[in-house]
Amino acid sequence: MKTRVLRIRKGRPLGPQLGPAAEVLRRGGLVAFPTETVYGLGANALDPRAVARVFRAKGRPADNPMIVHIARMEDLARVTRETPPATLRLARAFWPGPLTLLFRKHPRLPRAVTASLPTVAVRMPDHPIARELILRAGVPVAAPSANRSGRPSPTRPQDVLEDLEGRVEMVIDGGPTPIGVESTVLSTLVSPPVLLRPGAVGREAIEKILGPVRLASGAGEGPAPSPGLKHRHYAPRARIVLVDGAPGEVREKMELLSRRFRGKSVAALVSAAHPPRSIPARRLGRDPRTAAHRLFAALRDLDREGMDVILVENFGTRGLGLAIRDRLERAAKAKIRNPKP
Ligand code: TXA
Ligand code: MG
Repeated sequence: MKTRVLRIRKGRPLGPQLGPAAEVLRRGGLVAFPTETVYGLGANALDPRAVARVFRAKGRPADNPMIVHIARMEDLARVTRETPPATLRLARAFWPGPLTLLFRKHPRLPRAVTASLPTVAVRMPDHPIARELILRAGVPVAAPSANRSGRPSPTRPQDVLEDLEGRVEMVIDGGPTPIGVESTVLSTLVSPPVLLRPGAVGREAIEKILGPVRLASGAGEGPAPSPGLKHRHYAPRARIVLVDGAPGEVREKMELLSRRFRGKSVAALVSAAHPPRSIPARRLGRDPRTAAHRLFAALRDLDREGMDVILVENFGTRGLGLAIRDRLERAAKAKIRNPKP
């Protein structure tokens, strides 16, 4: 299959530019498109054949459900069976935006979308291209992140092409995505509500509205609350090693580790100043927002450069820090090194 790249021209009306992409979706084809978090791989959520093709294109396990994207509040009723007040309150507070909420699914929704679960994850993205595309298509759009299963989510059009060229009809080039980590996934269907995946909306912001929310335990403990959690995820080919500590300490530990990995290509991702001298390092920025924006692209770039090991500084757990931490722990398979200097 030849993948068509649709370049969006800034300053020209979006609607006409996105016409061809909406048409691909309506006909059961696959379109990768930018959202404010990461690129998504979209299909008509009401078309079981189109949805099945998303799983194949990504190499995604069939037991991992997808997020359904809508562009208007009215469309919630097309994919859900009921809209509990607490959930609606959150939707009103954070939509359009990077919060994904669980609802009981509408019987019309194909089973494949929710991996046969009784619940459906829904969000309204806050990106002009995503919203206009969904509106134009006139259908709810099922879209997981537009990466091959297991790889870091794509934040740039070239990352999507690297993983999916020849496997999807169209990739919309809307430049880099502003946030860079995926949406927060929350279930208010249980009490207390459960944070199924830390993401772009911080836990603190949700708790301001809802009161305390529980953080879902990771893979392996009891039945997986969110099926995606048990799959290896967000991982570059290189081995990820998380390094905790104060900035000076981190640098020392990284120097130490690089000696331990002698003979391998080692790179470091650090917050800001004073990267370790003996290792090629990239700065992600001190602010977790900047770091989130650059993280997945940096992991992919280092993979392309053939790195064996990537040492990453810890970004804390406040706001976006928690999402960064979650992704890195998954990538590292929760291996945290704390060598004594
Ligand atoms: O920011 C995002 O969320 C991006 C953009 C494209 O919207 N999408 C995304 O989708 O990251 P995906 O498929 O890569 O991740 C969706 C997560 C998975 O961990 C999945 O298991 C979980 O949401 N999920 C989806 N439906 C669920 C459900 N019914 N119950 C529990 N977890 C669900
Ligand atoms: Mg994903």
